[in-house]
Amino acid sequence: MFKDLKSLRSQQCGESISELFEDDPNRADMFSVRFETLLFDYSKTQITAAVRAGLIELCNRQNVAGRREAMFEGGKVNETEQRAVLHTALRDPDGPELIVDGEDIRAPLRATLGRMERLARRVRSGELAGPGGPFTDVVNIGIGGSDLGPVMAALALAPYHDGPRCHFVSNVDGAHIHDILQRIDPKTTLVIVASKTFTTVETMTNAATARRWVESGGGKPARQFLALSTSEEETAAFGIPREHVFGFEDWVGGRYSVWGPIGLSLMLAVGPDHFQAFLAGGKSMDTHFRTAPWKQTMPVMLALTGVWHNQVCGYPTRAVLPYDQRLRRLPAYLQQLEMESNGKSVAMDGSPLPHLSGPVVWGEPGTNGQHAFYQLLHQGTSVVPAEFLVAANGHEPELEQHHRLLVVNCLAQSEALMRGRSLDDACALMRAAGYTGTELERQARHRVFPGNRPSTTLIYPQLTPYVLGQIIALYEHRVFVEGVILGINSFDQWGVELGKELANSLLPLLSRANGDAEKDGSTRALLDFVRKFKA
Ligand code: F6P
Repeated sequence: MFKDLKSLRSQQCGESISELFEDDPNRADMFSVRFETLLFDYSKTQITAAVRAGLIELCNRQNVAGRREAMFEGGKVNETEQRAVLHTALRDPDGPELIVDGEDIRAPLRATLGRMERLARRVRSGELAGPGGPFTDVVNIGIGGSDLGPVMAALALAPYHDGPRCHFVSNVDGAHIHDILQRIDPKTTLVIVASKTFTTVETMTNAATARRWVESGGGKPARQFLALSTSEEETAAFGIPREHVFGFEDWVGGRYSVWGPIGLSLMLAVGPDHFQAFLAGGKSMDTHFRTAPWKQTMPVMLALTGVWHNQVCGYPTRAVLPYDQRLRRLPAYLQQLEMESNGKSVAMDGSPLPHLSGPVVWGEPGTNGQHAFYQLLHQGTSVVPAEFLVAANGHEPELEQHHRLLVVNCLAQSEALMRGRSLDDACALMRAAGYTGTELERQARHRVFPGNRPSTTLIYPQLTPYVLGQIIALYEHRVFVEGVILGINSFDQWGVELGKELANSLLPLLSRANGDAEKDGSTRALLDFVRKFKA
């Protein structure tokens, strides 16, 4: 599939980006996409008009448009689980009739959103309270998609928080829940157990601990626990009354679920109106994705840039670098979104994938990352395509100088990655510093930057709820397009199952020495160590 493009590889992936700019002064206009207030600039890559045409051809060959419409219209595009994929409907509850398994899904979506809003208003006004008074704190207990979406969005929208304080517990490591519960009041805390299946061991263990904490602290679990889940049976078995359960359907994948009940903690923090703006932003990106020509479709060009770097140029990772401290969990969120979706080695039909799976995604906010791993981005032997995100404005007008520094650092990094520094320039620097002869050259070589390292920048006026919704939907569709081009199912995650099964089989072996004969030598030795040192 990538044959034609691979023939371009040697000449094109090494092409000088700086020269592309010299050849075409309008390159920034020609190799960028604008949508509403967002600008996605991919001009600092080696993509040329010919490469782009080849990449766009992949969309046609792989029927991206057909798969896209199948997804939006409720087709069972998650073929290994025989499920529709309709997180897009969560952000469009007032859309036209949408039939799944013989029933219109919009009315129940509206009803659930209405219930969430009523609950949020009652909690935020203090009408719904714990035994100790109005809820001061909310603890969302969930993991994976039942944690990363809400925690990422709640941090991102901190300037809009005017509700109870929100905390997020995910790890089964008792340290996580301990460190949060010890600083809040069990009589004024609302506990949200967020789990699509309501069987995830980490979440159920943390939920049981939280319930004991509420009970022993004089609280009333029946009043203070809510459940967000697809399973009425499991939530009832845990003892959560039906009226405290916010349900959703199996056509909402975990990592795509922040738009519905799983986003309740976010709604409690920022209020229903801001949550609606978040949904509206997501919906605007959906409409854009469905209607714009490929070349002007932001998620498509973001995806094709990813395909180019990963599949054609062979760069195995990409760095997500938000110059936005409040997007500090975005890299983790995107790790799940992208790697759980496209980290597969089997094609939709079960045959081995004839090309690489999706890339490793990692990152940290700028400017912190600059003082940690950017050394390798600039001078390491591997090329890591960098994806920058930055807002023109912060939310702290009184700290404008901070924001100016943030923005220029972001722009400087993409410029430095592209421009680099030649040996001649480095020698001139060293000469000016007083070096001569062989020492001059030795010192200069350490100061050479190869440059020509690709990056993209997504820039927006300010990180509002609407813009955050656009950004998240942008990445969701990017992952979808990449998955369709790779020919895989982006909506299952069988790769996480084996570890869960083995953990279950190991649990009893922690406390008894016999029975571990079928384990490998390393696992047996590690078990022995734990048994020996366990207090
Ligand atoms: O372990 C993978 C996974 O299934 C994710 O896809 C999901 O987001 C997470 O676990 C949590 O699942 P649940 O919401 O059912 O607790």
